[in-house]
Amino acid sequence: MNIEKYRKYFTKEYLMGPNSFRLLEELIRRSPKDVCFDRTLDLGCGHALTSMFVANETDAKTVFAIDLWISATENYDRIKANNLEDKIIPVHGDAMDMPFSHEYFDLVVSVDSYHYFGCKKGVFADKILPFIKEGGYAMIAIPGLKKEPQGDLKEIFEAWAEDGDSELFKTISWWEALLKEECNEHCEVVIKEAECFDIAWSEWFESGHEYGIRDKEFLDKGIYDILNFILIYIKRKD
Ligand SMILES: C[S@@+](CC[C@H](N)C(=O)[O-])C[C@H]1O[C@@H](n2cnc3c(N)ncnc32)[C@H](O)[C@@H]1O
Repeated sequence: MNIEKYRKYFTKEYLMGPNSFRLLEELIRRSPKDVCFDRTLDLGCGHALTSMFVANETDAKTVFAIDLWISATENYDRIKANNLEDKIIPVHGDAMDMPFSHEYFDLVVSVDSYHYFGCKKGVFADKILPFIKEGGYAMIAIPGLKKEPQGDLKEIFEAWAEDGDSELFKTISWWEALLKEECNEHCEVVIKEAECFDIAWSEWFESGHEYGIRDKEFLDKGIYDILNFILIYIKRKD
């Protein structure tokens, strides 16, 4: 997988957080050998950059690119400009009410998005799992916590959270408990810490995005040391 050819997208116009290409590349590289990409859903695809990466860099035959904040028309323009209109289908929609058939996807992939809607019991089992075929996978990359902030750091973290997303950052053990409780019977869940942390954040800061500049101010106050990225692999057994 060649990340360099996507470097033109490492800018404030396209990035929506720590560099998604780094996260997605690692998510795919460290995925189980039996993952099938044939019909993939990119859940919370943003500008569909992650959908393009899956379409180009894997064996995917079709990628459905669904997002809430970004319109299907905007993404279709970008998909056409990259000659991927026969492979990527842009959809505007909410993860909580997806317009697809049950047991439709070999794979649901989600980068830097799942924490916005998935931090509640029942979301995965009721809203996502039904759309995955038996034997299929969900592969999720999200920002998270190495450990809960304490003392002064807790206050800084809460200030960052005020108009940010940090209240949605959880530890690996928090995600393990949630996912195992809600779908252990039907799924195998494996969770890993990602290795691309430093480079993904530095490319976000370097993009010059106003949110990146704000994130850096808070992370420099000590928060950087308690953050991580979490890779979640869930196989639907039956
Ligand atoms: C930080 S962006 C990441 C976008 C893209 N995956 C990437 O990595 O470049 C988070 C995305 O999650 C999407 N999102 C948040 N809540 C959603 C929901 N309920 N349903 C679908 N998408 C959602 C937003 O629309 C936004 O584009």
